[in-house]
Amino acid sequence: MSAAKEVKKITTNTLQKMKQTGEKTSMITAYDYSFAKIFDAAGIEVILVGDSASNVMAGHETTLPITLDQMIYHASSVIRGVQRSLVVVDMPFGSYQSNSKEALVSAFRIMKETGAHAVKLEGGEEVLESVKRIIAAGVPVMGHLGLTPQSIYKFGTYNVRAKDETEAHKLRKDAKLLEEAGCFAIVLEKIPALLAKEVSESLHIPTIGIGAGKHCDGQVLVMHDMLGINTAFKPRFLRQYLNIHELASTAVKQYIRDVKSSDFPNELEQY
Ligand code: KIV
Repeated sequence: MSAAKEVKKITTNTLQKMKQTGEKTSMITAYDYSFAKIFDAAGIEVILVGDSASNVMAGHETTLPITLDQMIYHASSVIRGVQRSLVVVDMPFGSYQSNSKEALVSAFRIMKETGAHAVKLEGGEEVLESVKRIIAAGVPVMGHLGLTPQSIYKFGTYNVRAKDETEAHKLRKDAKLLEEAGCFAIVLEKIPALLAKEVSESLHIPTIGIGAGKHCDGQVLVMHDMLGINTAFKPRFLRQYLNIHELASTAVKQYIRDVKSSDFPNELEQY
């Protein structure tokens, strides 16, 4: 009987070591079992069950409507497809902002009901007490600074953040606070590349950028954007690696033609 091959799992320590050796971290979002399985087997280090599920899976305009129960459903599906990657789950809007007890209860639900390895929440000083309490309970936390989509109605736009010195100063300070609180990594979203470089160099923990330039310690993209499932979203920072929209549309049009012409199924495709 051949022994099952041991899989070396990615942990938060792995990411820390990668920062020390200068190896970049690759991260991608996933929301279901099948894509998570593909990404894990391809060698991605981190899978983020992003609250962007609200946009790309549920069709909402913002990330605000998605619920904790819905995030738990997505995350538990992802976990079943993963053998090696570190799985991080977004804490959705309204599940941690009220107080640190609520935040802890939400984090416990995510960890117990999904089997995920870490949670991510948006913000700096404002959520520090919650971050500390979750980490003290043994749950790894990833921070998220810059453009934090759960605050879209405060920002008013999805434009680049921290271009002015006041906001840049707050971001530097928040990054330090999150590191001191024990976060294992911080996402930097849509901020100037020079600021992201400065912050990345000032921290011992890795930064994962999205629209934050090449000097972050890793990069993250939303799977629907990078695989071209959603082709309407074309920000400057996005590199589209595939056009699934076109491939799927062409395939389905052919299928429709085959059904209508009775070409499908043929003799070999029946019992
Ligand atoms: O929800 C998400 O997909 C995210 C990434 C954009 C970092 O938070």
